[in-house]
Amino acid sequence: MGVDRVRWGIVATGNISTSFTRDLKLLPDDAVVTAVASRSQGNADRFAAEFGIEHAYDDYRRLLDSGTVDVIYIGTPHPQHYAVARAALQAGIAVLCEKPVTLTAQQARDLIAVAAEHKTLFAEAMWMRTNPVIQAYFADLAGGVIGEPQQVVADFAFHKPSLPARLLDPALGGGSLMDGGIYPMTFTYMALGRPAEVKAVGSLNEDGVDLNVAMAWRYDSGAVAALTSGLRSQNPWTAAVSGPDGSLLLPHRFHHPEYYVRSTASGQERIDVPTHGLGYHYEAGDVMRALRDGLVEVPTLPHAATIEILELLDETRRQIGVRYPGDNEDLGG
Ligand SMILES: NC(=O)c1ccc[n+]([C@@H]2O[C@H](COP(=O)([O-])OP(=O)(O)OC[C@H]3O[C@@H](n4cnc5c(N)ncnc54)[C@H](OP(=O)(O)O)[C@@H]3O)[C@@H](O)[C@H]2O)c1
Repeated sequence: MGVDRVRWGIVATGNISTSFTRDLKLLPDDAVVTAVASRSQGNADRFAAEFGIEHAYDDYRRLLDSGTVDVIYIGTPHPQHYAVARAALQAGIAVLCEKPVTLTAQQARDLIAVAAEHKTLFAEAMWMRTNPVIQAYFADLAGGVIGEPQQVVADFAFHKPSLPARLLDPALGGGSLMDGGIYPMTFTYMALGRPAEVKAVGSLNEDGVDLNVAMAWRYDSGAVAALTSGLRSQNPWTAAVSGPDGSLLLPHRFHHPEYYVRSTASGQERIDVPTHGLGYHYEAGDVMRALRDGLVEVPTLPHAATIEILELLDETRRQIGVRYPGDNEDLGG
C-alpha cells in the first residue's frame, strides 16, 4: 500500500471513537481521517462535521467498499467487532480494533488467520501497552530493580450512578470483566506471562452480567497475582508488581498513568514520564509505523497476547458463569 499518507476510517461514532479520533489529530499530517461510518447517517454526518472528515457513511460496509481508507479503527461494542474486522481484512483494509477484539479466543484466532491470509495488518487497540509511562515501567521491571517478581496486585473497578447500557447488557458483551478486567489481566500478563493456574469467582446480576470479579493466578515460578474488576465500587484502580527488593506501583487509573512509584531500599521515588493527549495516538502511531514496515502485526500489540488473554477471559467467564449469546461453540458447550 502507499504509506506516505495513511487514510484512517472510523467505524462507529460512540465514546471511544470520539476520543480516539480527537487523539489522531495529534499525529503529524501523514495521518488523515478520510471517512466515518455509523448505523445512522445523522450520526455519521455529525461526527464528520466535528472532525472535518470528508466521507460519511450510514453503513459500515459502505465505508469498507468506498476505497477511501487504508486502515479502520473499530469502536463498536465487543460483539460487533468480529464481523466488521473480518470483512475489512478480507478486503485488504488494515484493522485496529477496540479491546477485547472479540468475545472468544476462537474468534480472535480466526481474525489473525484471515489477516495472515490477506497479508493485512490486524491489531487489538490495547492502548495501555503503548503508553510511554507503561513502557518505562516495564523496562524498569525488566532491569531487575525489585528482584524476581513474586506478586502482582491490580484492580479495575468503578461505579457510576447510571452506567452505560451496554455494560449491563449480555447481548452487547456486558460486564466488568470484558470491559475493565482485561486491563489488570493484560498488566499481569505483561509482568509475568501466562499463568499456570487461574481461579475466579464473580457476582452476577439477574441478567447474568458480572458486577464483581476476583481472580487468582499462579505461576510455576512461585509468583501469584490477585486481580479484580467491578462496576459497583470506587476502587484504588492501581497496579503493582513486587519482589524481594521492592515494588513498582502504577497509581489511580493505572492503565493510562502519568507516573509510577519505585520503592526500594534506597527509598521511594516518583518517576514522571511526559505524555500528551488522551493517550490513543501512541497506538495509532505504532500502527502507522507497522504499516510503513509492511507488517501484519504491530510489535507493541502482539497477536499472541491478544489470543492468550482471550483464552484467559474464556476460562474466567466459564468459571464465573458469564455466557453471551452465540458463545456455546467457542467456549466448548
Ligand atoms: N480503549 C479504551 O480506553 C476504551 C474505553 C471505552 C471503551 N472501549 C471499548 O470500545 C468499545 C465501544 O465502547 P464505547 O464506550 O465507545 O461504547 P459506546 O459509546 O456505546 O459506542 C459504541 C458505538 O458502537 C456503535 N454500535 C454498533 N452496534 C451497536 C449496538 N448494537 N448497540 C450499540 N451501539 C452499537 C454505535 O455507533 P453508531 O451508531 O455510530 O454505529 C455506538 O455509538 C467496546 O468494545 C469497549 O470495550 C475502549
